[in-house]
Amino acid sequence: MDLTTRYMGLKLKNPIIVGASPLTATVESIQELEKNGAAAVVLHSIFEEQINHEMHEIDHFLFHGSEDYAEALGYFPEVTLSNLESEHYLDEISKLKKCVNIPIIASLNGVSKGGWIKYATKLEDAGVDALELNITYIPTDIELSSREVESLYLETVDAVLQSVNIPVSIKMNAVFSAPANMAKQFCDLGVKGLVLFDKPVHVDIDLDVLNSLQNIHYSSSKDLSETLRWSAILYKRINASICASTGVKNHEDILKSMMSGADAVEMVSAILENGVEHIQKTLQDLESWMINKEYDSIEQMKGSISLSHTSNPAAYERANYMRVLTDYTH
Ligand SMILES: Cc1cc2nc3c(=O)[nH]c(=O)nc-3n(C[C@H](O)[C@H](O)[C@H](O)COP(=O)(O)O)c2cc1C
Repeated sequence: MDLTTRYMGLKLKNPIIVGASPLTATVESIQELEKNGAAAVVLHSIFEEQINHEMHEIDHFLFHGSEDYAEALGYFPEVTLSNLESEHYLDEISKLKKCVNIPIIASLNGVSKGGWIKYATKLEDAGVDALELNITYIPTDIELSSREVESLYLETVDAVLQSVNIPVSIKMNAVFSAPANMAKQFCDLGVKGLVLFDKPVHVDIDLDVLNSLQNIHYSSSKDLSETLRWSAILYKRINASICASTGVKNHEDILKSMMSGADAVEMVSAILENGVEHIQKTLQDLESWMINKEYDSIEQMKGSISLSHTSNPAAYERANYMRVLTDYTH
């Protein structure tokens, strides 16, 4: 059985990439993931705020001395010149590259066009095989138009693309007015992969303390719906690989993702819930299903139920929406 696939020019032994999370935070845990069948990993993110904070600290130590440094940025861990989080991260990457054989994708998480973008070059120099860019921008300014928000994304992506030669993917947000056109604009700039979609941190209200808060929830297979839709719509219409993300919990979700048009999947919640062995089990289930249905390879099924190939394109469009709602019985 041929489970291999290509993602952003990288040859993967199967479609399972472990997404950015605590699962990919140490060399040891990544070795475990590789041992259990992961085809690639996305490292836990390094954030614009972390990098900027460190740059600010270096600047302060170099030019003002440390005695009067009293700025307490509550949520940052204590950082000293000899213990820079991001420098440590670069060392870990170099070490990691010597210990594992699977491709390593670094994750940069930021918004602005600031100095943090230079960090992309450092990641490339440290030896990562690709870069995943997560731009989570919440446009709270009521005067900011969607066109301006799109420009902000495009300018930041372009600045990152200008600073590296390795393939860059965008972990996309599903909430653009025109996700297909936004995807096209990213690809026109030179983005090589689209991760559909990012799962934003959930907002909630705590009724005991009467305050707002943020939560991370594990996803379920039901969360795969928008990924399937947009993967099916974009298949063969953009010059980039597609990676399905959010709600890929088992082999059936992988099959659906591939058939909608994805080249690979990212998994996080399923592994956090079931342990690293879940990767092995999923690969076995995938292979059994394919043998049973007489598929020889992953390539064979890619895009077979995309918008242009399905016998029921209405399922991905508005056309079916009215029928599904009006035909509903309980
Ligand atoms: C505990 C936890 C930490 C995460 N950390 C990151 C991160 O650092 N960067 C990032 O881009 N996504 C992060 N994510 C999001 C995951 O990479 C992934 O996109 C999301 O969990 C949806 O995939 P899933 O349905 O397989 O869980 C995190 C998710 C979880 C659950």
